[in-house]
Formats: sequence, C-alpha cells, structure tokens
Amino acid sequence: MIVTSRNGQHDPLQTEAEISLKRLLPRLEAVWSEEETQNGLARDFTQRLIHEWPRLFRLLYTLYNGRYDFFYHLEEILFTAARGWKQRGDELREQDDHRRNDPTWFESERMVGGALYVDLFSENLSKLRECIPYFKELGLTYVHLMPLFAVRPGDNDGGYAISNYRSVDPRLGTIEDLQLLADELRAAGICLCLDFVFNHTSDDHYWAQHAQAGDVEYQQYYYCFPDRHMPDQYERTLREIFPTVRRGNFTWHDGMQKWVWTTFNSFQWDLNYHNPAVFRAMLEEMLFIANTGVDILRLDAVAFIWKQMGTNCENLPEAHLLIQAFNCLASIAAPGLVFKSEAIVHPDEVVKYIGANECQISYNPTLMALLWESLATRNTRLLKKSLSHRHKLPIGTAWVNYLRCHDDIGWTFDDDDAGQLGINGYDHRQFLNQFYTGQFPGSFARGVPFQHNPTTGDMRISGTLASLAGLEQAIEFHDPKLIEMSVRRMCLLYGITLSIGGIPLLYLGEEWGMLNDYDFVKDPAKAGDTRWIHRPKMKWEYLQDFQQDVDEQNGGAIRGKIFRKIQRLISLRKKLPSLAGQGMDLVPIDNPHVLGFVRHNEGNRTLILANFTEESQRVPANNIRTGGLGRFFQDLISDEEIATHDDLIMQPYGLLWLERI
Ligand code: GLC
Ligand code: GLC
Repeated sequence: MIVTSRNGQHDPLQTEAEISLKRLLPRLEAVWSEEETQNGLARDFTQRLIHEWPRLFRLLYTLYNGRYDFFYHLEEILFTAARGWKQRGDELREQDDHRRNDPTWFESERMVGGALYVDLFSENLSKLRECIPYFKELGLTYVHLMPLFAVRPGDNDGGYAISNYRSVDPRLGTIEDLQLLADELRAAGICLCLDFVFNHTSDDHYWAQHAQAGDVEYQQYYYCFPDRHMPDQYERTLREIFPTVRRGNFTWHDGMQKWVWTTFNSFQWDLNYHNPAVFRAMLEEMLFIANTGVDILRLDAVAFIWKQMGTNCENLPEAHLLIQAFNCLASIAAPGLVFKSEAIVHPDEVVKYIGANECQISYNPTLMALLWESLATRNTRLLKKSLSHRHKLPIGTAWVNYLRCHDDIGWTFDDDDAGQLGINGYDHRQFLNQFYTGQFPGSFARGVPFQHNPTTGDMRISGTLASLAGLEQAIEFHDPKLIEMSVRRMCLLYGITLSIGGIPLLYLGEEWGMLNDYDFVKDPAKAGDTRWIHRPKMKWEYLQDFQQDVDEQNGGAIRGKIFRKIQRLISLRKKLPSLAGQGMDLVPIDNPHVLGFVRHNEGNRTLILANFTEESQRVPANNIRTGGLGRFFQDLISDEEIATHDDLIMQPYGLLWLERI
C-alpha cells in the first residue's frame, strides 16, 4: 500500500520505509523464543518498532543510504535492538511501563542529583551500597557514577578511555556488583546515571587492537590515514581540545604506520560513525549498559561524533541524527531510559541537542559559567541577558543545573549577548581567567589554568567549588569574615541551581566544601591534567568531625555548616511544587547586583532573590510586589516575614525564597 501524505503528494522515503519494514518483520520473528512470543515480549517490541519505524528509517537512511550494504546493517541494527530488549530485566521493563505513562518524571521538584567517582568516594561498588544512607541524608534522588568500566593501564582520562564496555574495572568490582547496586538504589528511590562514552574508545579496546594488528574491517571503526594528506586538510578547520597534551587532533601509530583521529588524549581513538557497523556495535554496548539498571545515560562529548571535511567537526547536523537514532532505538528496546547531553559548547549549539526525541536532559554550561561570571563581576546583567532568551526549553525536557563537575569551567557565553551590553567577549574571558586563577587584584578565587592554548590565548579553569568561591583563601588568611562570605557565596549559587528550573546536580564533596587537592601532581598519570585538583578522595573522617561539631581549628565546623545549609536547601526544594517543571520568569529588579526570578507551576509560585555582592543591596518594594504578586511574604530559608511597604535591604550575598502569605 502506498500512502500519500496530507498535501496529497506521496513521500518516496515513507514508501521505502514501509517496504523495508514488510521485508524485515518476518525475519525478526526468528529472534524470539516460543515463550517470548507467548508472553507478549515479542509483541511489545514489535508494536514499538512499528510506531517508531518511520522516524528510525528516515534517520538511518539519511545517514547511511550511500552504503551498498545498507539493508544488511538495518537488519543487524534491529536484531541488536531485539536482543537488547530480550535481555532487559523484568523490574526494568515494569519501570519502563511506569515511565511511558509519566514521561516527564525527571521534572519533579524531588529530583536532586549527585556525581562521584566510585574509587575516590567509596573505593569500590560494593562499599558504595553502604553509602546509600548518606545519599538519603543529603536528599539525593539521582546518582551519577563517573565511568567505571574497564580501562587501559596508566592514564585513562578519569575512566573516559574505555577498553571494554561489558566489564567493570576490576578494582571497582564486577558487573554483578553494579547490578546489585542499581537494584538497591532503585529500591531506595534513587536513579542511576552512567556514561555512554561513544565518541571514542581506548587504544586498547578490542576493536583498536584488531585495527592495530592490521585488520582492515576494524581499521574502518576509526579514522586511520596512511599519511598527513587528509589530517592536514582536516586540521585547517579543527579546534584543539587538549592542546597541552598534544598539538593537533591526530596521533601517529607506529605499529599500523597510520595517523589516527584523537580529539582528546592520544590514547582515545575517535569512532567512525560514517561506518554503520560502528553505529550497530555501539548500540549493542549502549543497551548492555542500560540493562545493568541505568535510568539516565550521560552521552559524553556529543559535539564531536560526526566529522566532515571543511568544517570544525563539532555539532554537525549528522551528530544530531545519530543521537536521535540512538534515542529512537532506546525507546524501542529500553523505553524508560533518559538521555543526558554533555555538550559544553556555544549556547546556541547546546540547545540543539535537547528534545524529547534527542536528549531529554542536558547539562546547562551557560548558566554554570554565568553564575561564576556574576560572582566575579558582582553584576548580574550578562546572566539576566542570557536567561532572558536561553533558559526556556521544549516541553518534555529539562536542564541539569550544576556549579562544578569533574571537568574544567569554560566561559561558553555568547559574544553577542555580551556585545549588546558593551562587553567584549575575548577580553572578558581573559578577565575571568585572571580572576579565577587568583591573579586579578582582590580576587577571592584559587583556581588553576587548564589547557592553556598559547596560539589562541584560550584557557579554562580547574578548582573546587569551595576554592573558587573563596574558602581556601579565607582559611589561609584566618579571616572569619571572609570565611562567612565564601560560605554565603556557595549557598547563593546553590540557591539558584536548586530553584531555577531543572535538575540540580551536585559534584559530591561540594556539599561539605572540599578544597583543591594539590597532591595530584605526585601521581604521574594525573600530573599533566589539572582537573585532578578538584577530584580528591572523599574524606569520610571529615563527616564524623562535623556530625559531632568538633574540630573547629581544622575546619570541621565550617564543613558542618556548609553541609547543613545545603542539606536544608535541598529539603526545602523538595517540598516546593513551584520548583517542578521549568516555568521561570525573570523579575525586573532595579539593581544590577541582584538577580530575581519567579518559579511557577500549577498555580504555585516562589520568588527567588539573590544578591551577588558582599555588600547589602536595596531592592525596590514595588519590584517585589510586582514579581511576587503580593504585599506580604515569608522567606522560606530564614522563616522571616517580609512586608513590602518599604524597600527591601538584602544582606551581603543574601538569598531569599519568598512565598506570598
Ligand atoms: C567528556 C568528559 C571529559 C573527558 C572527555 C573525553 O567531555 O566529561 O572528562 O575528558 O569527554 O572523554
Ligand atoms: C571541551 C569539550 C567538552 C569536554 C571538555 C573537557 O570543553 O567540549 O566536551 O568535556 O573539553 O575538558
């Protein structure tokens, strides 16, 4: 049957899709056992496949129709998806059903995330199970474990150089340990997030090893070139991501006598998605990971997954098609799974990855960078400018709002946004780098440079939340007032990421104010990468300290104070239905030092005010009346009542969450 579209013209691709599906469905029947046919497993899969088929076919056809063996790969992709579904556990399938009925479950005010390295936090996966009470005490409902799969020996980029996606790094445990942990987290109401590192594998992955042994089929899994001819042509338009590791984007492999594309470290080989066999193979790995019990899959380095000569090979349209195809197959074979995009790029590009059909949630690097920017400048105008037209997302999606993560801070704001305020982007980034490395006179920050590029002058910043917010300096100066200010800065930033709309994500250790760890240089595998300065080992002894409120001299009381304040903000967030979803309106405040916005959801309303300076600030009463739609308010953080017949005087770094009374 040939279908005509609404405007009466027939769509040739749709016809091809229908013909292909008719050919494929009977072949697929061979995948199912008698039992799977009887108990409805085969039917459920097939129904979803038929539903998604027009979209899936179009995506894969667009990407791979130039291949003479397209139909073969298409069939293999479907077999892989069906096998993934067969291997999915019953509990996960049940959860899939719930989530299909509640597709925006992650927009709840109850969602609060935390990220950690298993080895640094709890040594291994089985001991991590004992940390579940800690997650609950803090109020987390989502835990992101940094990459924990088998890695190459020596430097492995913090787990991002994976040699086997099917086995856990033996130092951390086994796949069974991971599944056990996932089960216990689920029982405790905590989602599990793991990475899908799909832009590259380690140079000792099975595929890379075969490529190195001269197997041409596996050399086609990567970008391998016999001489500099092609690399030099690509290089003309490429950026350098890790310029202090190695100049350029290619690495010579002596054994193969070939240049290999390596965007990041030389031992991270970029996968060649022009080859549909790579797409299929990574789909299999993705479904395996999902089936260990993952709720949220963090798609690593999404910007780089497609390369095209003459472009910067970042954020290309095909990168989106690839992710959409993975998304489509996930909704067929692992329907409860949510994708989180890690695109630390220009804000115009970040949002292109976000959509119910692509990545439902995404890191919010622009908000992150601009919160730090406002803290340095004591001025919120660039932040407001950006929020005014960049915060709103499509329905069914959400931001992941964070202050620090395992990576560096890059100043990814838009130069036009800045230009309209008379700010020169390049100069401003230089200022921010000076400020956060503590070189700018009067700076409170103790960050260090990351990946300084001598050619472009580009640089990013490493450092922990507390050290960047001034705690390290204040402790060194033995200055209680500065200590107080740094704690307020941290709470101020939290007050925003916890309320502005989306999922707040803590980088664990932050909650008690961990400081930079300068010892990373002692480990040769880490010394060359300053990001290790903010990846210290968890100090559980500190927790005991502050629970007993002792150890004033060594900072125990400060840590306890930070922990309790953050814990309280988290628990407050979880009680406020206004903070669910993403309804957010900026409130015009006639004071550039103060950020004001209203969160509203299903008739609930909370007005948030944040003073970005170490001085008191005046907020005109009528700003609050208009923004809060009332005259009398209660600040949920201090429990104080506020009347608006007079202007409001906000404390230094004051933070208010106001509800009308
Ligand atoms: C992502 C990770 C980063 C890693 C890079 C290469 O950006 O967050 O830590 O270095 O990918 O995998
Ligand atoms: C770049 C990349 C990002 C990566 C980071 C690691 O900013 O865009 O994906 O996480 O480098 O430093």
